[in-house]
Amino acid sequence: MDSNFVKLLFPPKEIIGIDIGTYSVKLVCFWEEKKQFKLRDWGHIPLSIKPDTPGEEKKSIIAREIKNYLKKKGIQAKYAAASISGNAVIVRYVKLPKLSKKEVALTINIEAEPFIPFDIRDVNLTYYILGDVMEEGQPKMETVLVAAKKDAVMDKIDILSEAGLEPLIIDVDSFALETLYERVAPGNDSNAVLILNIGHKVTNLSIISQGITRVVRDIFIAGSTFDKAVQKILKLDPAAVDALKKSRKLLVTDEEKEAAIEEFDRDGIAASKAAGAVLKDLYSEISRSIDFYLSQGVDHSISKIVLSGGVANLGNISRFMAGEFKVPVEIINPFSFLPETKNVPREILPSLAVAAGLALRKLKDWE
Ligand SMILES: Nc1ncnc2c1ncn2[C@@H]1O[C@H](COP(=O)(O)OP(=O)(O)OP(=O)(O)O)[C@@H](O)[C@H]1O
Ligand SMILES: [Mg+2]
Repeated sequence: MDSNFVKLLFPPKEIIGIDIGTYSVKLVCFWEEKKQFKLRDWGHIPLSIKPDTPGEEKKSIIAREIKNYLKKKGIQAKYAAASISGNAVIVRYVKLPKLSKKEVALTINIEAEPFIPFDIRDVNLTYYILGDVMEEGQPKMETVLVAAKKDAVMDKIDILSEAGLEPLIIDVDSFALETLYERVAPGNDSNAVLILNIGHKVTNLSIISQGITRVVRDIFIAGSTFDKAVQKILKLDPAAVDALKKSRKLLVTDEEKEAAIEEFDRDGIAASKAAGAVLKDLYSEISRSIDFYLSQGVDHSISKIVLSGGVANLGNISRFMAGEFKVPVEIINPFSFLPETKNVPREILPSLAVAAGLALRKLKDWE
């Protein structure tokens, strides 16, 4: 029997969500009992791969790390979901002429081509139709185009297969965050919410309104930008910079600044200055996306910012951002919808958001 057919008859109960980042690999696996999700397991595997390691070797190292982790934890799940972001994928919101489902399937490549900055032959193109709209008297369909570079998708499939898993879904980081956000805050927001997943190389930005992601953008300002800024001032090695940012905080109030001066905390003051400058650059990029979104007239304001990713742990980051954007800032707890969690350390929680969103995906999404 065709194995896809078997999966449709017996959808897998457990999918491991695996977020393969440049700093760490994050894993989450839920199981469902009486319609209630429970946490089967989670993992956070820091990677220390030398930057000049060839691509194939990098993939094998990551696959081995995942395999060892699954073995160590005795996880038997077979199916996995991973995701891509950054340069590997482009998401565009466009209005296309209204057509029947069949016609769309036949013409989508031609319709999409002008919006995709890659050669259409190098990408896997998917689309979702959000709804019908009228534009200048013409019936149109609001459509989300997702163009994923085939080689980036293949890289993730290779890693999962080499780790002994069956890759079921290759999603987009921002969509995984939307899946998770729906679960942790179902229907709670009347206004748009900005989600920022600040990782090591990339910050995934999305704006969600009425349960639908309306803007997806990846910005190449994240943890490693901050490392470079600190290195420039303090001339420390990478491990020392990493330790410094985990042990210090952004100095936001005058009292905090004065206390750092009194303690002669030269490194702490420099780190805070560098982080503040990087966050200001990030702030101007984010503001551009917010302005672009608000100019479309769907919402009048952003009601809150939700932070995830490793950098969400930077001390005082939510206070700093709330001051810049003048809206409340929260740090996501990807397991807040569970009856109990397995003592996941507080500083790990925000990094697990993408993996948790991936683990929540069901077979129907993959068909
Ligand atoms: N406690 C902390 N304080 C400050 N920064 C932290 C802390 N913990 C982790 N980070 C930073 O977060 C970043 C890693 O975040 P994350 O694990 O989300 O990245 P990633 O998903 O591997 O990267 P990417 O998706 O960009 O490839 C690193 O720059 C790391 O130094
Ligand atoms: Mg990441």
